[in-house]
Amino acid sequence: MHLKPVIAANWKLNHTPTDARAFLQRFLPQCPRLNERTVVFFPSALTYATVAEGLRERPEIWLGVQNVHSEAQGAYTGENSVLMARDCGARVVLVGHSERRHVFGETDEQTTRKMALIAQARLTPMLCVGETLAEREAGNTAAVVERQLTAGLAELDDAQIATIMLAYEPVWAIGTGRTATPEDASEIHGVLRAALVSRVGEKVGAGIPILYGGSVNRGNASQLLAAADVDGLLVGGASLDADSWASIVRA
Ligand code: 13P
Repeated sequence: MHLKPVIAANWKLNHTPTDARAFLQRFLPQCPRLNERTVVFFPSALTYATVAEGLRERPEIWLGVQNVHSEAQGAYTGENSVLMARDCGARVVLVGHSERRHVFGETDEQTTRKMALIAQARLTPMLCVGETLAEREAGNTAAVVERQLTAGLAELDDAQIATIMLAYEPVWAIGTGRTATPEDASEIHGVLRAALVSRVGEKVGAGIPILYGGSVNRGNASQLLAAADVDGLLVGGASLDADSWASIVRA
């Protein structure tokens, strides 16, 4: 199945509202019509409204949030909920990003719960999976990403699974300048594709976008995007500069 590539910018803890306004002023004229790609921005929660305002005339560009809490509401100071994200017009939510797992200690159980809440709210969860360097060197890459995928899908029915996106982000490639080769990425994307197909069948499994992330830049984006089973890119550092991001979007 031919999917429209999904090119997503994860701004992490970068870009104030002021930065975001300047970014969009420079970026948007470089990419006047984006019909061949689904472009997604994941700004911080506090910068979100400014980006939404800046994209008002560009409804083809999607907005997402970087995280939501694993409960829908309640006494959880400092958190953001899926209902807030939906009310703000977000269409996608990142779940289980490597920094959530490895810096903030997010567990597989929490990703299970978040995936279910997001799917129930009829937003698109983008589940991130990926192995550490030690796990790769021990030959456990496939087992780790399959475990993370199984947890993410645990409470979803087939119709909900049909709406998700996946991102393979090897932990050792994130922010390190060390990218997986297109062959490495294809191999693990193939493992994820096979797991999806065995869970929901060929028709639905083949239609779920699997993005690659980890030190993607304007120099390697086209090659990674051309690799088998790579349906998009999830970009951190190289999405922060408007010119660099524009050339990745056009890759
Ligand atoms: P970098 O592109 O900075 O390696 O970050 C990747 C990432 O974590 C995107 O979610």
